[in-house]
Amino acid sequence: MVSLSEVRAHNASLKSLPAGLVAVFVGGTSGIGLFTARELVRNTTSPTIYLIGRNATEASKIIEELRTINTSSQVSFIQKDVSLLKNVDEACREIKTKEKQVNLLFMTCGYLTLKGRDETAEGLDRKFALHYYTRMRFTNGEEDAGGGEGEGGLAAYGGGVWEDLR
Ligand SMILES: NC(=O)c1ccc[n+]([C@@H]2O[C@H](COP(=O)([O-])OP(=O)(O)OC[C@H]3O[C@@H](n4cnc5c(N)ncnc54)[C@H](OP(=O)(O)O)[C@@H]3O)[C@@H](O)[C@H]2O)c1
Repeated sequence: MVSLSEVRAHNASLKSLPAGLVAVFVGGTSGIGLFTARELVRNTTSPTIYLIGRNATEASKIIEELRTINTSSQVSFIQKDVSLLKNVDEACREIKTKEKQVNLLFMTCGYLTLKGRDETAEGLDRKFALHYYTRMRFTNGEEDAGGGEGEGGLAAYGGGVWEDLR
């Protein structure tokens, strides 16, 4: 396992990345997404951050906190239930109208449940949609907006299970 000091040293090294990185956190209102967004904001220069989720109350608090951590950061919230793919498309369109490129797409949307199939209005199982279809749709939707030094993506599926999308 990577030590905490190694993680902190790596985070500090992000200062050498170009200013103005654009990062999209699908599931940025809590947990792994929020903690990663916070450290990215702390350790980069003039980042632009999009947090995507449903909880607007939580998002407002987070935006205030991240702006205090780094006054050069631009943080905004896109409120969407991304278990619906039409909402994923809307979020991608919104980001594309504002940004020429996305450097980091970080996807942790999802939840743990032992409940059986729970169908969305689009006929997909909600949990499976969030863990698979939503993430593939975001990956495709932001694909033509990717680019440059520091680009990459990560999807977290469960404890210790993740995929590097570079
Ligand atoms: N942390 C662990 O140890 C662990 C262990 C096993 C599995 N996992 C899985 O790993 C992933 C990330 O874990 P985490 O601990 O960061 O989870 P978390 O704290 O519950 O965060 C999940 C994020 O996904 C968003 N989200 C959930 N449903 C959504 C929807 N329908 N539309 C839009 N956003 C939605 C939530 O935002 P809103 O509430 O604002 O919608 C939240 O920001 C999850 O899929 C979780 O099940 C984590």
